[in-house]
Amino acid sequence: MNSPWSQRFDLALHPTIAQFNASILFDINLIEYDLTGSQAHARMLAKQGIITLEEGEQIVQGLEQIRQEYRSGAFKPGIGAEDVHLAVERRLTEIIGDLGKKLHTARSRNDQVATDVRLYLREQIALIQADLHHWQQTLLTVAENHLDTLIPGYTHLQRAQPVSLAHHLLAYFEMAIRDQQRLQEVYQRVNLCPLGAGALAGTTFPIDREYTAQLLGFAGVTRNSLDSVSDRDFVVEFCHACSLIMVHLSRLAEEIILWSSQEFQFVLLSDRVSTGSSIMPQKKNPDVPELVRGKTGRVFGHLQAMLTMLKGLPLAYNKDMQEDKEALFDTVTTIRSCLAAMTILLAEGLSFRSESLGRAVNNDFSNATDVADYLAAKGIPFREAYNLVGRLVKTCVEEGILLNQLPLDRWQSFHPLFGEDIYDAITPQHVVSARQSYGGTALEQVKTQIAAAKEWLRASA
Ligand code: ARG
Repeated sequence: MNSPWSQRFDLALHPTIAQFNASILFDINLIEYDLTGSQAHARMLAKQGIITLEEGEQIVQGLEQIRQEYRSGAFKPGIGAEDVHLAVERRLTEIIGDLGKKLHTARSRNDQVATDVRLYLREQIALIQADLHHWQQTLLTVAENHLDTLIPGYTHLQRAQPVSLAHHLLAYFEMAIRDQQRLQEVYQRVNLCPLGAGALAGTTFPIDREYTAQLLGFAGVTRNSLDSVSDRDFVVEFCHACSLIMVHLSRLAEEIILWSSQEFQFVLLSDRVSTGSSIMPQKKNPDVPELVRGKTGRVFGHLQAMLTMLKGLPLAYNKDMQEDKEALFDTVTTIRSCLAAMTILLAEGLSFRSESLGRAVNNDFSNATDVADYLAAKGIPFREAYNLVGRLVKTCVEEGILLNQLPLDRWQSFHPLFGEDIYDAITPQHVVSARQSYGGTALEQVKTQIAAAKEWLRASA
């Protein structure tokens, strides 16, 4: 029996319970952060004279050796170690002898693990932000290539009004800006150092928490020792920010799935991003957006798990909190893989089919609002014009024709104010270019958005 607390215990842990209890199989992911945190702690202990400078240096070197052993694959702790923190301490003591046992002076695994998770998240948030940046660049590039491509705009998944495809894609750029801002806010709350809170109440040693925080590049220290070891709000907030990223990706994923169907035929998927069916030879399946849509569920699930895990937990640390790790790691892996896959899909995995898009925007009544606007601009109250156009559309539907196939005398039988210019007013190009209001889909407005998007990317690079 060789757990740190074995002197207090008479019996060894039941093997099944040892497995149940152990987090080493997943918290090994934190090892680099654990080593970095421990090195800072050792340096602080030495600076404060709690251990000698020489001892501090030996501990730092020993931890560095463990880092090398881990990277080379030589250090692979099994579940006998319980968790990464104990595994590192045990290996350190093997390497530098009894001095290794001084490392845990003035700290606990409770403040240690909170520090590790914060160090981990700080790095992962930066990586996800870089992935998002790449995603935004791709959205912008494709938008710029499709300023003049028109696509039906929908509400209730019914054809509503045509829009510029660039405008449609830039809507996702806006969502990504908010995703970036949310991650940035989470980062600020993550970026505080809890180390030195001890088990829950602080420590009797004359530590310098500011110094440790500074060595680890934290913006400051947490204020209350109980809160320091029991706070996982930042994990929930991170899972929430990631859930919204998945909401956004899944919405575009769903659109791409629809667009690639026989019914829409708005996009063509490249062989590089689709699979076939093992039985139906004609099929090409949109696996990437389907998986993104599907993986959204697990990210939401992790958010729910974190909220439930924390609910009603008494202060301070409780073992329940060990459950934060797998949720967190899987959230990070899932988000990063979805962002990478969607970026490839949009950048090189699909092409927009201009003929079918052109056919789509020219074959419906999505110009009906513009007929009402036409009359309203000539002084007819909008609601009256709207009712009149309702009758017009009904007539056309009954006769199986489109508005632009209606001869002028028939327009005029509905209202004498209709003139020859009505035909120009209802082309999809005109319908789009007429929407000049700020944030609208007219070319000038979309160009303004593109300029703003470029500036945003430049400023956030
Ligand atoms: N493996 C634990 C976790 O992940 C580390 C903290 C354990 N603290 C304790 N008092 N048992 O949460």
